[in-house]
Amino acid sequence: MKCRQICRLISIAFFIGFIIFSKSPAVNVDSLLDQMTLEEKIDIIGGYENFNIRGYKKCGIPEIHMADGPVGVRNYGKAIAFPASICLAASWDKELAYRVGKAIAMEARAKNVHIMLGPGMNIYRMPLCGRNFEYLGEDPFLAGKIAASYIKGMQDEGVVATAKHFVANNQEYDRHNVSSDMDERTLHEIYLTAFRYAVKEGKVGAIMSSYNLINGIHASQHYYLLTEVLRNMWGFDGIVMSDWVSTYDGIECAKAGLDLEMPSGRMMNKETLIPAIEQGIIIEDLINTKVKRILSLYNRFGFFENPDLSKDYLVDSSFIRETAIDVARGGIVLLKNEKNFLPVDKNKIRKIAIIGPNGNPIVSGGGGSSFVQPLHPVSLFDAVKKIAGDNVEVAYEVGLFTRLRWEEDLFESVNYYYYLNGRKNSGVIAEYFSNIELKGEPIARRTYKKLKLINNDMWDDPDIPDENYSARYTCYFIPAESGWHILGVSGDDGYRVYLNDKEVIENWRDQADTPAQYDCFLEKGEEYKIVIEYYQRGGDARIRFGIKKSEVEHGPEEYLTKAKKIAEDADFVILSVGFNRETESEGFDRTFEMPYKQDELIKEIAEVNKNCVVVLNAGGNVDMNNWIDNVKALIMAWYPGQEGNIAVAEAIFGIINPSGKLPASFEYRLEDNPCYNSYFDEDGDKRVYYKEGIFVGYRYWDKSDKRPMFPFGFGLSYTKFDYKKIKTDKKRYKIGENVIAKVLVKNMGEWNGKEIIQLYIADKKSTLPRPVKELKGFEKVFLKKGEEKWVAFSLGKDAFAYYNPDIDEWMVEPGEFEVLVGSSSDDIRLRRKIIME
Ligand code: BGC
Repeated sequence: MKCRQICRLISIAFFIGFIIFSKSPAVNVDSLLDQMTLEEKIDIIGGYENFNIRGYKKCGIPEIHMADGPVGVRNYGKAIAFPASICLAASWDKELAYRVGKAIAMEARAKNVHIMLGPGMNIYRMPLCGRNFEYLGEDPFLAGKIAASYIKGMQDEGVVATAKHFVANNQEYDRHNVSSDMDERTLHEIYLTAFRYAVKEGKVGAIMSSYNLINGIHASQHYYLLTEVLRNMWGFDGIVMSDWVSTYDGIECAKAGLDLEMPSGRMMNKETLIPAIEQGIIIEDLINTKVKRILSLYNRFGFFENPDLSKDYLVDSSFIRETAIDVARGGIVLLKNEKNFLPVDKNKIRKIAIIGPNGNPIVSGGGGSSFVQPLHPVSLFDAVKKIAGDNVEVAYEVGLFTRLRWEEDLFESVNYYYYLNGRKNSGVIAEYFSNIELKGEPIARRTYKKLKLINNDMWDDPDIPDENYSARYTCYFIPAESGWHILGVSGDDGYRVYLNDKEVIENWRDQADTPAQYDCFLEKGEEYKIVIEYYQRGGDARIRFGIKKSEVEHGPEEYLTKAKKIAEDADFVILSVGFNRETESEGFDRTFEMPYKQDELIKEIAEVNKNCVVVLNAGGNVDMNNWIDNVKALIMAWYPGQEGNIAVAEAIFGIINPSGKLPASFEYRLEDNPCYNSYFDEDGDKRVYYKEGIFVGYRYWDKSDKRPMFPFGFGLSYTKFDYKKIKTDKKRYKIGENVIAKVLVKNMGEWNGKEIIQLYIADKKSTLPRPVKELKGFEKVFLKKGEEKWVAFSLGKDAFAYYNPDIDEWMVEPGEFEVLVGSSSDDIRLRRKIIME
């Protein structure tokens, strides 16, 4: 047979194979479009009932459900609560990230959720950002690689992932109005890169635009970002949805490339778009394109054939539960360990004192839309008791006056009452207003048995609008006993509480469900008037309130006295401190100092017991200057999710060897951070110019004479690793050619352990200024004691490129580069020069 005939036969065989094996799209999207009216097409590009996309039975389009991520399936009841995303980033473990994506998708399927709203991947600029814990740290490469793995895991399980918030949503304060301003190179190199990995490598199905503006234009109507960058430069073929209530102009959104407005079509609706089509401002095909993208996504994920994803899936499977603990095992970071204080041999101790507001009950996550009600909450107190075993006494004291005591049962309390027509009734009376400022005459009056209103309790009431309204709830309370009481409230969006006409709680801002409390002394038999004011902007609608008697009898100082008592005769103390979902949350930025004067608590306790181990919960750095020298060890536990405290206890007792490393640089003082003078909008013009440019995090520290307290990539282990050799496959490369680097690492210590090998690239000479080095590879490897391994890295063109704004492209300049390998950004152990030509 002639060569040409053989070739022809092979190609025919390939073609037949392709026909048989390739999955033809289930549905012809164009023919579906033909069956829809213009009105129906417009309706489908605006969300429906908060977390859904409308379905049309008549043409077989299913209704699609969404739920918040990124650390578990937040909506529709309890779920497995995963550790904060920054903890996953701190694991530097791509396989684990894949497993997390898969596990969360499995639980999403069990709840019949088609689209998960995560991962979040905005860059950590400053420790203050209220959502850093939801993101993946300061480095775009680390964030991008972890996000891409997570997305692949989730989507391989048949659930669409949503990369959010696109883009430069690096602060929470005034997040609807502030513009993140920066030059084009900074935008591409620092803030867009993680999203580029999500699109190009992760093949993410959906992207959520951010609340903020970028260079003066709202993210939801940013043509350059939504069309030129996403579609034209990166070839994104999924859907772009808005963040909840973040659209300002329906026509501009439609033109810029927004496909789906959430949670409803407030702007991109029939009233706006049909006249715009009639007047020729936009063409109908623009709407068709959006609908096509939505329906093509359904095709890609098989939602037409199998709209019910829940078959064969269970909430709370052991795989999902174990995966969540493994994130904490891999991501907690041992930051200090004076004279190898840790691990503690549990056979040599008798008593442990746990002190601090986060020790009990559990603080599983930061606040806001990512907060998952955990199915199996395990506090640090419970975890330490469990791992220490029956022979060790474990005592707990909170140590402080103010603490989070937000509990579900608080809102069940109904022993308050209201007056109506001179008669006393149990419960609360409500007045609703058609604006968010409680202005004018009420549009509705209601009475409720208890103040525990969640979504449908209000949405199903025909007289209460779905969004943009406010309410005033009034009730009275007579304490049965004199004593300290807790007033607890939680709301989405803003609320404030008045006790006898004095404002005692204020959280008057757009926010996801956020709890707050006020502790006060109330007299038996006296009548107290309580007023709760509330407004609802959009999305979930929740307002809950309750009162209960506190357990303290003698007031605030009692807490510290009790704590000192258990600290005095303990072998060692675990200080469980940091933030919680009331003090670090979506919707606002946090302080650098820990709340509730926890610094003082640590100092006071360290004076009575020298053996203190601090376990810190936060989404990033906190001010440690007042206590770091007084404690023996510090474990960065981030937010550990439902059972991550078990991993913390395992690390304390040496059942696991800590292996996480910081995904962000930790400064001594906030003033040392390069963004310190460009974080808040100081002059009130609603614009923040990112003055530091590309020099964020270690990119800044590398060129500064100052050092951070703990550098990017830093984390201790109970063992020691030796970096023995580095080699590359060649010395000289053509631009675009892959570089293979290999590193020999040996575990020299007494423990088995995992090391995160970090590879940075330094461009020795370039036309534009470049960072001293940039992370371009990382591998987490397990080495038994005494074991050594060669670890390989493959470096593509990306590893050597920078974004050139003159040509709107990434480019590599010929010349000398250095491959740097080390154990942190500040601890480079091996170097090798190579040439690009
Ligand atoms: C948050 C999003 C979230 C959405 C829905 C918004 O406030 O910014 O991250 O997915 O609410 O809950």
